[in-house]
Amino acid sequence: MSEEEGQLEARLEEQEEFEPSEEFVSQANVTDEGIYEEFEEDWPGCWEGAADLLDWYEGYDEVLDDSNPPFYKWFTDGKLNVSDNCLDRHLEERGDEVAIEWVGEPTDEENRTFTYEELHREVNEFAAALRDLGVEEDDVVTMYMPMVPELPVAMLACARIGAPHSVVFAGFSAEALATRMNAADSEFLVTCDGYYRRGDALDHLEKANEGLDGVDHDVEATVVVDRLGDDGHGHDLRDGQHDYAELVADHEGAEVEPVHRDAEDMLFLMYTSGTTGKPKGVKHTTAGYLAWAAWTSQAVLDIKPDDTYWCSADIGWITGHSYIVYGPLALGTTSVMYEGTPDYPERDRLWEIVEEYEVDQLYTAPTAIRAFMKWGKQFPEEHDLSSLRLLGTVGEPINPRAWKWYYQHIGNEECPVVDTWWQTETGGMMVTTLPGIKKMKPGSAGPPLPGLDVRIVDTKGEEVEPGRAGYLTVNKPWPGMLRTLYQNDERFVNEYWAEYSDTDSDDPEDWVYFPEDGAKIDEDGYITVLGRVDDVINVSGHRLGTMEIESAIVGVEGVAEAAVVGGDHEMKGEAVYAYVILEDGYEGDDDMRERIVGGVEDSIGPIARPEAVVFTPELPKTRSGKIMRRLLEQIANDEELGDTTTLRNPEIVEDIQTKVERED
Ligand code: WT7
Repeated sequence: MSEEEGQLEARLEEQEEFEPSEEFVSQANVTDEGIYEEFEEDWPGCWEGAADLLDWYEGYDEVLDDSNPPFYKWFTDGKLNVSDNCLDRHLEERGDEVAIEWVGEPTDEENRTFTYEELHREVNEFAAALRDLGVEEDDVVTMYMPMVPELPVAMLACARIGAPHSVVFAGFSAEALATRMNAADSEFLVTCDGYYRRGDALDHLEKANEGLDGVDHDVEATVVVDRLGDDGHGHDLRDGQHDYAELVADHEGAEVEPVHRDAEDMLFLMYTSGTTGKPKGVKHTTAGYLAWAAWTSQAVLDIKPDDTYWCSADIGWITGHSYIVYGPLALGTTSVMYEGTPDYPERDRLWEIVEEYEVDQLYTAPTAIRAFMKWGKQFPEEHDLSSLRLLGTVGEPINPRAWKWYYQHIGNEECPVVDTWWQTETGGMMVTTLPGIKKMKPGSAGPPLPGLDVRIVDTKGEEVEPGRAGYLTVNKPWPGMLRTLYQNDERFVNEYWAEYSDTDSDDPEDWVYFPEDGAKIDEDGYITVLGRVDDVINVSGHRLGTMEIESAIVGVEGVAEAAVVGGDHEMKGEAVYAYVILEDGYEGDDDMRERIVGGVEDSIGPIARPEAVVFTPELPKTRSGKIMRRLLEQIANDEELGDTTTLRNPEIVEDIQTKVERED
């Protein structure tokens, strides 16, 4: 490092606040500081502006119907179609502009570019094909697909005919696919033969087929995209399985009138992890969700139609739904989609893509930023990143060092960084700075967006002093919110509302949404999110339920009991620590360890792989028999242990500690 660079690093290290550059502010979509007050005074009317970003067949009656909390309805009786909003309405002015710029992992493969016109055509053809396969309005279509352009095509085709989709992340296991298809009674699947990962042509159809074997009802039809061509694994399509390209060719030139959907009709389901072993089917609807995705894309990501915008998430998660597909396309911009990993073939792959496509905004995750940091600044330095105007992060807390590295080495100290806190359930961003207005504080996501009432409270629901840790709550509804858990209103109320609401009341003031995150607030109203307070852990920005992992482990022959906690991890944020008790007669050896890891991969997927498996004769339990997870976490993190005197078996703690040390 040169002396000059050293000084810069030192200055940045001390700097706690950063102002957006004048150049950024002068062109930003939102620059009027008055927006916060305005929205507060005109609530919920303030969301009319978000609804105005959309085209409607029939206008809505009321912005918000809050007569039956927490079952809120937004933009009541309005009629619209999401595919129309993301495609048709752009055709006249922007038909020849690029909607999706798809980059495959192999560098010698030609990229696939879809103009709005081309995307519109393909979506129409596939929508017609889906109808011919028997998909009707309100049928749930499952998609088990990696990052291929046919995924957004299929999502938009479903939206066009009013069939909700349920996208299952391609990295999830066959069993996870079956669980989700069963939970949603889904009779249709769109999947793909395989995809490239670090140079390997992965077989995906085998997993999909295995998943289909686990579905407990008839599956009407499966569509298979041929991604790998000659690199494919040579599976013959089964009965009821159709080749995507053939279907589209058979429907060449077909036009499908977009179905007029009610504002509150379901757009999609997204399964996510919760406290219990059963994934939750988060239900998002048509108008509120799209308005939220579009408005936040405009206000926070500063997207303009002429931009080339890139969110490097996977469409299999909510981030990709809202900020690769729906938000950007509703605004008519160019959205980049990349199939591979950031380190293939080299660790500069992302920067190569930014340079080649002159990307304006990059939205990624702290876990990726920590990896870039570890690899070193020489990789971004090899490329011209001057096209970048804004940077974003999402998925987990970002530590100030990683934030500053991103700001300095990727953004050249010219791009504001938006640290966006939100969840699958919120549909879109909730807590973050508006980049054209607010200063940034590394490590803190920022104030709640205008129109949102977010408070940090104690266990009784009283607001805590600035600087103190408490629980994050959202005290007013917002258009992008989940409407319920699929076919389970009761669990919806229990999981998100019961903690801080008077559930007997029909006064919306008595209803408070609890996202199960810990947080603190500072004197300026900036919120620092501390992480989950339920039994959910966050591995590389992916949300995993410890109960799901435990039940996978207990399913392995020879395992009597398991407790899973998140331990701090330098790159992943958190890593899975599994404490396992074996049945008599079984050895805690490498073979057992492998079977446990394999069991987790089979039942959830490689993302849930335990970092450490610790065999122990007992788990620390309270006198009432509850496992002391906090203690197990402290052991995983090599932290000082809290009070162990209330344990029934305090002597086991030291024993486990030595075993964990040996693992390290
Ligand atoms: C959980 C939601 C939001 C889409 C990706 C994850 C954590 C998310 C931040 C952030 C600190 C964050 C929270 C949240 N989280 N963004 N900017 N700072 N924590 O969606 O899988 O539903 O997970 O991710 O703990 O509850 P998800």
